[in-house]
Amino acid sequence: MSNKKPGYYCQECGHFTARWMGRCSGCGAWNTYVEEVVVSPRNHRTVERQVEPRLLIEVPPEDSDRRSTGMTEFDRVLGGGVVPGSLILLGGDPGIGKSTLLLQVAGAIGSAGHRVLYVSGEESPHQIKLRADRLGVNNAELFVYPQTNLEAVEEQVAKVNPLLVVVDSIQTMYIPDITSASGSVSQVRGCTARLMQLAKKQSVSVFVVGHVTKEGMIAGPRVMEHMVDVVLYFEGERHQTFRILRGVKNRFGSTNEIGVFEMSGIGLQEVANPSSFFLMDHAFRNVAGTVVVPTMEGTRPLLVEIQSLVCPTSFGTPRRMTAGVDHNRVALIMAVLEKRLGLMLGNCDAYVNVVGGVRIDEPAADLGIAMALASSFRERAIDGRVVVIGELGLTGEIRPVTALDKRISEAAQLGFGCCIVPRQKGLRDISELETKEVATLTEAFDLVF
Ligand code: TYD
Ligand code: MG
Repeated sequence: MSNKKPGYYCQECGHFTARWMGRCSGCGAWNTYVEEVVVSPRNHRTVERQVEPRLLIEVPPEDSDRRSTGMTEFDRVLGGGVVPGSLILLGGDPGIGKSTLLLQVAGAIGSAGHRVLYVSGEESPHQIKLRADRLGVNNAELFVYPQTNLEAVEEQVAKVNPLLVVVDSIQTMYIPDITSASGSVSQVRGCTARLMQLAKKQSVSVFVVGHVTKEGMIAGPRVMEHMVDVVLYFEGERHQTFRILRGVKNRFGSTNEIGVFEMSGIGLQEVANPSSFFLMDHAFRNVAGTVVVPTMEGTRPLLVEIQSLVCPTSFGTPRRMTAGVDHNRVALIMAVLEKRLGLMLGNCDAYVNVVGGVRIDEPAADLGIAMALASSFRERAIDGRVVVIGELGLTGEIRPVTALDKRISEAAQLGFGCCIVPRQKGLRDISELETKEVATLTEAFDLVF
């Protein structure tokens, strides 16, 4: 915090007011005032004096102390486990399964003989107990603590001396010194800063839950991302059972790993082989408008089915709808299909969907999207045993992609027979599966149809 005077500052123009107002009198923006709390400078100085510069080579490595969460999928996303003294944010939509996931982690760490403090500002101990019974979490080292006052939490952490603290959720916590309501930007920021100090001072790992909120006065996890060590997001469609845990920031490892889970009646189960999970309904069907694409999620290949429906527009402007792929990317691919292959898509509605609710944001799926669209437009099925890989250029050329070998091997493992790939150097021969190289959209089109 700064040496500003206490009060409210507009986040847009920095205008100051001693009392909160709905509208900034400086710039006229609504809901932009955020409370600024002043920490007494004396406290700051005592902390700073204790720290001395150290030689980097003398700093001991801490990696060996990582604790397993009891789930390999989770450990992988963290880079091998929970680092002592780290503050980890778990963000996600309400109801997606954040409390469930962290209670399972708390259970696993408790079972390993370490003390865990589960602070809940949302549920009573009875509710937590009910869930714990369902999850089979039952051990002597797990403490539940219904509390929303962060200072009381700090006291209990000092008393209980746990290895892991779970704070569910940051939006329910408050610091008495800050006058604004829990969940406001200043409370969320203030609480996060205090939790960070707590984690570092006591060398305790802290998980904080942050609900993603679309609007309103409740601050979302975004306002704390820069303060914490690790940012994880838990994603998935609420009406579907699979969940993806994604690393967005990690001061102790890479961020390109994901963990895949399935929500069951007894909590979250790890999905060790996500490709076969997402392709469950595909079963090598030959239907128009669908094709399987190997994408990369971090360092792991993932096979997903892309479906498309193209039909004449019945009135007005054509509709273009996508789920799981970028809307603009599909518009671009349709333009290339129209120009390079002469498909008259201009007066057609087009819908593109990735089965299972997965989100693909890499260009290596371009050719797959193009093939699915063309297949639906022509009412011609693509052989169900074919997978398609390639990035599409504006001139209709098919560009090389990364990690081609991994993608092909995954397809081979799942029993696919043929792989359409970009023409690129260093392609290994994989005997179980036939690879066909293409350099342009036209070549790919001639091969498939
Ligand atoms: P929850 O962990 O409470 O979500 P969050 O903390 O992110 O808000 O989980 C909510 C949903 O998970 C709830 O609708 C019920 C479902 N669920 C199961 O399907 N199986 C289970 O074993 C548990 C504990 C929850
Ligand atoms: Mg919850």
